[in-house]
Amino acid sequence: MQSLLELMGQAHEQLSQAASLAALDQVRVHYLGKSGLLTGQLKQLGKLSPDERKAAGQEINNAKQVLIEALEARRESLQAEALNARLQSEAVDVTLPGRGMSQGGLHPITLTIQRMSEIFGQLGFEMAEGPEIEDDFHNFTALNIPETHPARAMHDTFYLENGLLLRTHTSPVQVRYLMNHKPPVRVIAAGRVYRCDSDMTHSPMFHQMEGLMVDTDITFADLKGILKTFFREFFEVDDLETRFRASFFPFTEPSAETDITCVHCQGKGCRVCKNTGWLEVMGCGMVHPNVLKNVGVDSEAYTGFAFGMGVERLAMLRYQINDLRVMFDNDVRFLTQFH
Ligand code: DAH
Repeated sequence: MQSLLELMGQAHEQLSQAASLAALDQVRVHYLGKSGLLTGQLKQLGKLSPDERKAAGQEINNAKQVLIEALEARRESLQAEALNARLQSEAVDVTLPGRGMSQGGLHPITLTIQRMSEIFGQLGFEMAEGPEIEDDFHNFTALNIPETHPARAMHDTFYLENGLLLRTHTSPVQVRYLMNHKPPVRVIAAGRVYRCDSDMTHSPMFHQMEGLMVDTDITFADLKGILKTFFREFFEVDDLETRFRASFFPFTEPSAETDITCVHCQGKGCRVCKNTGWLEVMGCGMVHPNVLKNVGVDSEAYTGFAFGMGVERLAMLRYQINDLRVMFDNDVRFLTQFH
């Protein structure tokens, strides 16, 4: 009994000193394992008389129970300590300021299309769309450009193996829209167009915005009024002037090229306008009666105007960009300036 008390004293001492779960387990094995000290005591019982054996057995088993409970309590407290230590080392201060995400932004071409659409929207124009892969009929024939027409050579068309082509302009959207909608119509269509042409000022892919207005009594005056209003709004220049020069497009008659007062020098003459005071910004005209016929619109009852402008050109003028290629280089130093 004396040695049992000593043993228990030792066990409690070691147990309270065990600093880890592994050390604690060693203590358990040392006393309660197969060849543990307390287990050894139980094995000695056989040497005692039956009376002594009963009393001693009870004592040892009680001691064993006490030790098991103490071990369990110590294990729980070690686990709690470990958890606390971990919580402390992994603590996150949620009140600290964030690291600052860098924000993306829209491409200047997208911003320009949005701006153009907003202004035309205020003038009553709706948005239309057409496919970038077109067929000969919509891109050329219906627009009064028959197979043998010399204007086809101007378009530097990318032809696909299946006989289709990449649209060379947004004008085929006029055809598609009029085939599906009865006049009056007032639409714009913006998107990518493709031409086999690449240098300082030409990209094989670029963007256009097409406009179309058809009703019973549309005149060239409507075309001039709408476009002058548009350019004044777009460039935020109240006294900006427009100039219409006679030109030729197969799908309009009469046709015109439109110039605006140079937005760099206000018409005084500079490098950008090559000292003319004017900038050429688009082609336009009154929809050719043949086009109206091709899409099933009565060309005696209806007239209309159409225009097509280069989005890159307007973006470059507005943001004072002098090299078209930066638009498609994807250089973040350029792109982040528009955020
Ligand atoms: N489609 C012409 C081009 O790409 C631009 C154009 C001119 C469109 C006159 C029109 C228009 O709608 O009336 O060069």
